[in-house]
Amino acid sequence: MQVATATGERAKNRTSDSSTAYLRRRGRDFIISLYGTLRAIKLYPVAHTAVQRSLSELSGIAREIVTREKELDLRFSGEFLFINSTRLRLDLTNYASFGYLLRICRESGIGLIRVGADATDRAWLVLLSQVDNASGDDPDARRDGIIHRLADAGLSSIELGPPQDDQVDAEQGQQLRDAANHTYTRSVALTRDVINSVRLGRVPSIRKIKRVVQGIVDQILNEETSLIGLTTIRDYDDYTFTHSVNVCIFSVALGRRLGMSKLQLFDLGLSALMHDIGKSRISVGILRKSEDLSEDDWRGIAAHPWLGVLVLFQLKGQQEEVSYRAMTVAYEHHMRNDLSGYPQVVRPRTISMTSKIVAIADGYDAATSRRAYRTVPYSPAAVLQEMRDNPRRGMDPVVVKAFINLLGIYPVGTLVVLDTFELAVVSAANSRLDALSRPMVKIVSDAQGNVVVPPVEVDLAQADGNGDYPRTIIKTADPDRYGINIGDYIV
Ligand SMILES: [Fe+2]
Ligand SMILES: [Fe+2]
Repeated sequence: MQVATATGERAKNRTSDSSTAYLRRRGRDFIISLYGTLRAIKLYPVAHTAVQRSLSELSGIAREIVTREKELDLRFSGEFLFINSTRLRLDLTNYASFGYLLRICRESGIGLIRVGADATDRAWLVLLSQVDNASGDDPDARRDGIIHRLADAGLSSIELGPPQDDQVDAEQGQQLRDAANHTYTRSVALTRDVINSVRLGRVPSIRKIKRVVQGIVDQILNEETSLIGLTTIRDYDDYTFTHSVNVCIFSVALGRRLGMSKLQLFDLGLSALMHDIGKSRISVGILRKSEDLSEDDWRGIAAHPWLGVLVLFQLKGQQEEVSYRAMTVAYEHHMRNDLSGYPQVVRPRTISMTSKIVAIADGYDAATSRRAYRTVPYSPAAVLQEMRDNPRRGMDPVVVKAFINLLGIYPVGTLVVLDTFELAVVSAANSRLDALSRPMVKIVSDAQGNVVVPPVEVDLAQADGNGDYPRTIIKTADPDRYGINIGDYIV
């Protein structure tokens, strides 16, 4: 395979806007057609018209792209799909097809599909019927098997490549973590100022709030894992401030997965950061109460959505505007999809997409953190499962699915606490999409805190004879707090 030269890279960077727009549009058609063909091959015999029609549509779109763009590379990188160098945007209508393709290609060890101008219906048929036969084999071996099949059939028009190793080196990783740390600490400090000034009856500066959101959006677009990692290191006394920042981080990261533009992410982030601003109008005594909340106390807390709308209205007088979307989110974030939450509404309404996203981020952060009335947080996995499986939570199933996809991945190098109270460092991601929260880990200390030398590597997705998992990740932890140098465990 050709090694990309600097000139080649520059040429790629010069990809014109019209080409990007074309690839986004036709790339989507291509992916949807690829997905449709895979489904048709699975459901019908090869000779069936549905299969034949899908194949000819697929090869037709592919040919059109190769002819226009001179190349067609479909790349899978992490949770993203690229056509040539253009990342395809994910949205609710194509979420299923994207997710499915990512999963089966990962299982088959495929990180790149390079399509030539002469790729025939038959070449696609051979490839796709092989790819979707996943069963337990080693991904690299599976990919080699498919490559051999294609070669045996004399089909050289489609080439396959392994996933690119997108591990950053340790130094770069440290820089990214430092930047994320800086953004996070600064956001919490600014949010504290904002909330405190509302408590004191002052009108906080919108510019300050926007600066927080801008920092978070930029960081998420640049590198999201470090910032998401920080949401788990919570300071108990700072709950109100860290909660707002965490909900903002989760919402923006989720919005990004759902294909929102930078501007939309900014609006979403602002709404998320301010979702509980109405609570600053409720006495701290009630908010901190650990038990025995009277009916009056509950009524007070349940007023925070509309109190939030009032606070946001007061901000509107300033030069910079607060969007109506932020008010909608403050008002709707506890309403639930079926409107069974609060505030109660008389007329039917559709909860806005922004509110759906914030409600999920909010529910997750609240349930996984330690608070006054609950000293042990629920495990993230249990919370996600509840959000997905209990319809009474009133969350949007598609958005929950995207959220699970986002959080289910513990990146390599994350320090985690297991339900056995052992500490472990994530050493490799699990390639099965249904086991994203069960990566390979190296156990570095036992339940009593004794260092395990050398560390023992275990696969968290490995169930015992009864189908139970001996170990489950409870949460991520701050390596500094435990005096652990992650670099010692990651080769
Ligand atoms: Fe709330
Ligand atoms: Fe909240």
